[in-house]
Amino acid sequence: MKILVTGANGMLGKDLCPLLEKHGHEVIKTDIEDLNIRNKPMVMDFVKANKPDLIIHGAAYTAVDKAEEEKELAYEVNYHGTKNLAKAAKEVDAKIVYISTDYVFDGTKETPYTPKDKPNPKNIYGFTKLEGELAVQDETPKHYIVRTSWLYGKNGKNFVETMITLAQKNPKLKVVADQFGCPTYTIALAEGIIKLIEDNAKFGTYHICGGGQTNWCDFAKKILEFAGINTPVEPINTTGFPQLAIRPKYAVMDNEGRCPSWEDSLKQYIERR
Ligand SMILES: NC(=O)c1ccc[n+]([C@@H]2O[C@H](COP(=O)([O-])OP(=O)(O)OC[C@H]3O[C@@H](n4cnc5c(N)ncnc54)[C@H](OP(=O)(O)O)[C@@H]3O)[C@@H](O)[C@H]2O)c1
Repeated sequence: MKILVTGANGMLGKDLCPLLEKHGHEVIKTDIEDLNIRNKPMVMDFVKANKPDLIIHGAAYTAVDKAEEEKELAYEVNYHGTKNLAKAAKEVDAKIVYISTDYVFDGTKETPYTPKDKPNPKNIYGFTKLEGELAVQDETPKHYIVRTSWLYGKNGKNFVETMITLAQKNPKLKVVADQFGCPTYTIALAEGIIKLIEDNAKFGTYHICGGGQTNWCDFAKKILEFAGINTPVEPINTTGFPQLAIRPKYAVMDNEGRCPSWEDSLKQYIERR
């Protein structure tokens, strides 16, 4: 397939593109320098000129806390940018995969969120990503919405690397233990996306995230255990680590077996780094 990827220089994009090529796909890699998704005519012209069979839309405004202060920009990229791409996809009859987030949920559930659960975002980033989902649904029936969460990979600033760095510099760490979610390795997500498109899955919404669930504190403990670092990790509550954006307390999603367990993927990541 001829696949256009947005956000190709991002944490996910850098792992996804080579994997797509390994699967024999022709990949058109784009990022903000060559295809600013906020530029509507540019998006339409670019997509018409390249005529992809499929667009994997990973580009986004991803700074969760900064989004609280840069609402317009976050909305412009995550809603308008996504709408521009979905419109262009429809124009050339291409399918589109939109990467979304667990932060579309409010976190008040006590069992894993399924794609049928109603979103109700608590922060600006989640709100703008949900608007992106709605834009895709409005523009074209040939869409996949792929929600993922707590992403880490070798090409981006992420929680795993932050914990390892902090643990090497400090006698002990204090990490939030009352927010639950599913850590996801970029490679596991990329493989899940590729399976979805190659299987010609039914269009609609999917959750592709690490299997099982944990909280940030236990995640940090596992990271250090796998990395062979002995720094102790103490649990704290969210109130002990104030952030601008509200995080959902329980952002666990049911991945319906689309990714390995979060522990297995973490082990793989640590062994490879
Ligand atoms: N990271 C997570 O924990 C997480 C969790 C759930 C869902 N997601 C979603 O997963 C996807 C990939 O995340 P990621 O962590 O790989 O993101 P990332 O590393 O921040 O990459 C996003 C890319 O999009 C680019 N971009 C920003 N504005 C753009 C524009 N106007 N036009 C074109 N490109 C633009 C960014 O460029 P600049 O760097 O120059 O801005 C960056 O290269 C995103 O859709 C994100 O919302 C991420």
